[in-house]
Amino acid sequence: MARLNWGMIGGGEGSQIGPAHRLGAGLDGEFAFVAGALDHRPEAGRDYGRRLGLDPDRSYGNWREMLEGEAGRADRVDLVTVATPNATHFEITREFLKAGFHVLCEKPMTMTVEEGEEIVALARETGRICAVNYGYTGYSLVRHMKAMVARGDLGRIRLVVAEFAHGHHADAADADNPRVRWRYDPAQAGVSAQFADCGIHALHMASFVTGQEVERLSADTVSCIESRALEDDAMVNFRMSGGTVGRLWTSSVAIGRQHGLTLQVFGEKGGLRWAQEQPNQLYWMPLGQRLQVIERGEAGLSPEADRTTRVTIGHAEGMPLAFANIYKDLAEAIRARKEGREMDPAADLYPRAEDGLRSMAAVFAVAASGKADGTWVDARPPMFR
Ligand code: NAI
Repeated sequence: MARLNWGMIGGGEGSQIGPAHRLGAGLDGEFAFVAGALDHRPEAGRDYGRRLGLDPDRSYGNWREMLEGEAGRADRVDLVTVATPNATHFEITREFLKAGFHVLCEKPMTMTVEEGEEIVALARETGRICAVNYGYTGYSLVRHMKAMVARGDLGRIRLVVAEFAHGHHADAADADNPRVRWRYDPAQAGVSAQFADCGIHALHMASFVTGQEVERLSADTVSCIESRALEDDAMVNFRMSGGTVGRLWTSSVAIGRQHGLTLQVFGEKGGLRWAQEQPNQLYWMPLGQRLQVIERGEAGLSPEADRTTRVTIGHAEGMPLAFANIYKDLAEAIRARKEGREMDPAADLYPRAEDGLRSMAAVFAVAASGKADGTWVDARPPMFR
């Protein structure tokens, strides 16, 4: 089976997320890395691309050159990943969709709700895939949680509790470091810092697992480091479309916490708890019984979990493999389109432009509610009201 052609924008040398994408895309042999505009400095990007094995004529100096170069090729990229800083996502994603490419965009997909609506409309109009990298939904046991909820193991879901709290911006003495400061500067970060950066992962995860959308929310946002104009900590209460009550805590000043992404789901018949730093175990507490530990890779899990597990039970799988599962879904989605068939439903789980838009509406809702002392606000994008 011929490999699909893949390219990326951003993710240059020394970037945080570039390597996880290259590992994820390459892992199953579905995608060949053939093109890139990897850095905001053209020469550094071209040079790094060549060192990673790209043909010199496909290691581009910027994304516009790449768009032009790839659009004219018979073997053009089947999928392009946008892993640049946030403020550039909208324009790059829009232009590649318009030119007929499938896109995987990093989160947050856009900087405003209006831009998000434009991307959703464009993806629908062009019929192209516009996925958003909520990569942690790729973990096998997160998919198993979703399957357990969908098949009714927990009964009606009463409560979902999500956290994404780390301590990496907690040092007040380091707050003016340019690598940290821009994140809390409204001119560069927009209306929200910590919630837009990390909170949206947790909120999306709550929707992904419960199968419900966030409808209303009330937020308490604070800057624990007072010089910051945007929040470094937020507690968000929300209500979901199926009646589930949601709680979310996100922080960048939680000293001692590392990545800190966890999800707990409580239904009428049982509770689940999963933590990204121990992603190979899922804690399952059926009502009135003992705590059970579900291991990734054990027999009898859901098809969604089986499809996204590679090494046998007891050998840890981690974050690049979760990203690989998003790429595995996308490869199946692209191949199904090429072959004119239905895609495997167990693969139809990659986050969409609609999810990116819902997150953006939530970001603005959190900012508005935080400013209004926690007033409850509508968290849905106008397009979905
Ligand atoms: P970074 O600052 O470490 O790297 C950004 C890279 O993009 C650099 O190589 C830079 O040279 C390049 N770049 C900047 N502007 C460019 C342009 N116009 N054209 C081509 N390349 C350009 O940033 P990081 O942390 O890797 O984040 C990138 C994106 O990924 C952000 O939107 C961030 O929110 C997202 N992210 C997502 C994560 C996830 O779990 N889904 C985790 C970490 C980051």
